[in-house]
Amino acid sequence: MLAEMTEWDDDYAILESSLSREKLVRKLKNTRASGNSWFIWKEGGEYLGWVIVHWSGKKTEPDYPDMMKLFVREDRRRRGIASKIISACEQKALARGCDRIGLSVAHTGNEAAKALYRRLGYEFTPREPYPFGQRGQLVLDMVKRLKPED
Ligand SMILES: CC(C)(COP(=O)(O)OP(=O)(O)OC[C@H]1O[C@@H](n2cnc3c(N)ncnc32)[C@H](O)[C@@H]1OP(=O)(O)O)[C@@H](O)C(=O)NCCC(=O)NCCS
Repeated sequence: MLAEMTEWDDDYAILESSLSREKLVRKLKNTRASGNSWFIWKEGGEYLGWVIVHWSGKKTEPDYPDMMKLFVREDRRRRGIASKIISACEQKALARGCDRIGLSVAHTGNEAAKALYRRLGYEFTPREPYPFGQRGQLVLDMVKRLKPED
């Protein structure tokens, strides 16, 4: 089940070991203050994955929501959890009246994520790779149409 985080729960930390509790609390606060959603996937009483949805998109694609920081616990991968998380986000976007939803993926590498997104119907946009984030990693945008054009 996909649930939206409202306050930081220390049990969520099973999914993140590189950031301090303080940083995670701040990140959740900032996410919510900007009107975005941080969703966590719970199954069989365990937290298995998460994703952040920016409902107003991103600089390069401001017309539809964007999924960021998709992550599934390493010991539970290849069991369809990311697919379920993405599908639940697509349903939430549709319920908000969005006709598309997007995400970005590393330009080089992360073939697992690229295979996943292609399999779920995401396509690369025509935009050239561009630097993103603090490290300026080159990324590519992908998009999926959720309902036919009017
Ligand atoms: C990418 C990630 C979210 C996939 O999560 P997952 O729960 O394992 O994905 P799913 O089980 O739903 O995968 C569905 C399909 O995607 C493709 N896929 C997923 N992982 C793959 C891998 N390691 N290699 C090749 N294909 C892969 C396959 O087609 C897979 O179907 P199959 O298992 O029947 O072959 C997970 O590996 C992860 O958290 N990685 C680290 C964080 C990350 O890279 N996030 C994406 C940022 S853009």
